[in-house]
Amino acid sequence: MNRHNTPLRYPGGKQRLAPFVIEVLRLNRLAGGHYVEPYAGGAGVAIHLLLTKQVQHIHLNDSSPAIYAFWRSVQRKPDDFCRKIAAASLTVEEWRRQRNILKNPRQFSQLDLGFSLFFLNRCNRSGIPNGGLIGGLGQQGRWKMDARFPRNELIRRIEAIAANRKQMTITNLDAEAFIRSCVPQLPRRTLVYCDPPYFHQSDRLYLNYYKPSDHVRLASTIQRHLKRPWLVSYDNVLEIRKCYGRRRCVFCKVQYNAARVYTGTEIFFVSDGLRLPDKLAGSGPVAAARVSSDTL
Ligand SMILES: C[S@@+](CC[C@H](N)C(=O)[O-])C[C@H]1O[C@@H](n2cnc3c(N)ncnc32)[C@H](O)[C@@H]1O
Repeated sequence: MNRHNTPLRYPGGKQRLAPFVIEVLRLNRLAGGHYVEPYAGGAGVAIHLLLTKQVQHIHLNDSSPAIYAFWRSVQRKPDDFCRKIAAASLTVEEWRRQRNILKNPRQFSQLDLGFSLFFLNRCNRSGIPNGGLIGGLGQQGRWKMDARFPRNELIRRIEAIAANRKQMTITNLDAEAFIRSCVPQLPRRTLVYCDPPYFHQSDRLYLNYYKPSDHVRLASTIQRHLKRPWLVSYDNVLEIRKCYGRRRCVFCKVQYNAARVYTGTEIFFVSDGLRLPDKLAGSGPVAAARVSSDTL
């Protein structure tokens, strides 16, 4: 699955896990239902599922006002958004202007804010908001700021999403509030995939981040209050494994492209009763073992 459907770049973006999620949907008779990402970010899996019609409706929630503004603009004003892409001037001066919008969100419209998030995501190193401009301010690097800004392809992705905009619900809540207040209203045939900020390094990668105590509280909210089938993914660290101690989990090898390329292991925890593919090794990037709690 080489073709990217989401217009946003995310280090560790999850679109490549879509085949695994599709298999989980199928095995649990959840295909054709609703699919939820409380930490949407670039929503790589959700957009893939929607565009390939694996699910009927997606719910994207993110507490970042800029990410919310991006998705709402794509949903409500796709033509204006695409016009902005077509007309964007790829200069350092424009990059500074867009950075100023992202830093002062209240002074600008939702469309301007959403576009600034998109512009910086496409022009910054690894898509990181504070990552610095590709090619540097002097534009002397091997790659220049337009290296990740293929206008026609990005417009294609926005138009494809906009064609399905009635099947998207977008919210701007804290994930735990969303899990408690919105998820219970959804049909039984719903799968929730939580991709919270990583335990390590999340302050550098994202606009907002979690302290260790936030991860512990989230684990409790998910395991006590989330009454729909769920998956949670994390960087594979002891502190997180302890939070989900008795849950079944699968490991997944991932390649990160933030600043340097390196391979790490992510871990997925799953709700009780959710059926998993027998041969995980055959499910694309979901690599190897299923472990029980005593191996943690
Ligand atoms: C790991 S990223 C999600 C990446 C996404 N799965 C993808 O494929 O692009 C985490 C996202 O969670 C959002 N976030 C951080 N804290 C949050 C919170 N308390 N509630 C909701 N969203 C939050 C961040 O803004 C960020 O977009």
